[in-house]
Amino acid sequence: MEEIMRNDHVFHRDLLKQYPIITHGKGPYLYSEDGRRFLDACSGAVAANLGHGIKEIAEAMAEQAGKAAFVHTLRFETPVLYELSEKIAKLAPDPLKKVYFTSGGSEANESAIKLARQYHKDAGKPEKHVVIGRWQSYHGNTFGSLSAGGDIKRRQVYTPNLLDFKHIHSPNCLRCPFQREKKDCDKTQNWSCTASLEQLILEIGPQNVSAFITEPITGSQLGSVVPPESYFQEIRRICDRYDVLLIADEVMTGFGRTGKNFAIEHFSIIPDIITFGKGVSAGYAPLAGMIVHERIMDGLMQNSKGKFVHGYTYSGHPVSVAAGLAVLQIYEREKILENVRDAGKYLFDKLIDLKTRIPFIYDVRGMGLLLGIEFSADKAGTPFEPSLQLSERINEKAMELGAVFYPGNGTINGQMGDHLIVSPPLNCKKDELDELVQILENSMLLAIEEIRRGLDDAAK
Ligand SMILES: Cc1ncc(COP(=O)(O)O)c(C=O)c1O
Repeated sequence: MEEIMRNDHVFHRDLLKQYPIITHGKGPYLYSEDGRRFLDACSGAVAANLGHGIKEIAEAMAEQAGKAAFVHTLRFETPVLYELSEKIAKLAPDPLKKVYFTSGGSEANESAIKLARQYHKDAGKPEKHVVIGRWQSYHGNTFGSLSAGGDIKRRQVYTPNLLDFKHIHSPNCLRCPFQREKKDCDKTQNWSCTASLEQLILEIGPQNVSAFITEPITGSQLGSVVPPESYFQEIRRICDRYDVLLIADEVMTGFGRTGKNFAIEHFSIIPDIITFGKGVSAGYAPLAGMIVHERIMDGLMQNSKGKFVHGYTYSGHPVSVAAGLAVLQIYEREKILENVRDAGKYLFDKLIDLKTRIPFIYDVRGMGLLLGIEFSADKAGTPFEPSLQLSERINEKAMELGAVFYPGNGTINGQMGDHLIVSPPLNCKKDELDELVQILENSMLLAIEEIRRGLDDAAK
């Protein structure tokens, strides 16, 4: 294989790190120029949902690039834009039927925040502008989406630049931020995690609040935490009560990741806007967007002369849209939802089994193929010292052994706690999952052994 020279002009994510250089991929595997193979156990960043090297998608993109690689949606549109919008609208819950495209998930959430603001303003409610998000939810890295999100570490550097958006705690029954027991909440039908939204809206003044944004299943920051069953029904009621738009951020969960087209369907409510990204193009091209409720579209028609004051050069980029169309055709043809349910259960059971053998696994959770593992130093759930970087270390060992996971920390309060997301491609097979679990077990054992040795050496 031709040797690739390290390019010193790359602005690496971490300037002190050397990253494997990937030359190609096939199925769930990535291959590096130095001859290593990595099982992609997190689909990149929960994006490469069909694995790598699918010619059909590459050819669809090439065909579109050969016809018309770019048109500006301010002046023109393309047939693929209509085809993909129709497909997405059919998958989305009624009456969310209009699809707006962006390049990435941050831009999608930025667009939803702006749409909520414009919708209210043009409807004669000019004060409505505050977005409420949740601590430990992630909505992206642009200023609007970062302000709405609750990722303490990512926000810290930019605090003076952030918008004055507000936050409530994310629901997490295992480590309830309100120190309550799930069974008591269920018995009394009184949930502090939803009551806190109403309280905050009243504090800010409902006339000032435009939207509440939430991940249906809290992904990267909490490690796939599923909310209590009735959480979203109560959230929906509160949003309706105060004319606050409900934005479901499905950038990570959309297009089958949790075993339904959209994760919010598990909770039987209809949001006002669904934002999506990642899985829509399975990582083959930058593509994301939002799907909008007809009452917002009606509002735009009646109050805004049909104009949304927003847009990006690459909104609805034909090559990305062609990739999305090919990907959705494959999801349908390969009955991907069925595989997610099947493979998800198989993997979940295997991880539960791993928990019986690995004492520092505190919890296994998630839905479909968006699974999370939380670690603790003892049975009571005491977190490991953050400086030990347990989840990062497990992933480093995994990469040495030939797999890559999605490590995270700050699980408990944004500072303490470690978790790992396990999210292989949605078309993964059982033998690949067996390999994944074997590498994961060995990586955990090697990481903990390394930590113990380090602690022993420090004590000497
Ligand atoms: C739930 C969620 N929203 C938004 C984003 C931001 O998407 P992007 O990185 O494509 O801008 C992410 C990315 O991880 C995400 O997981």
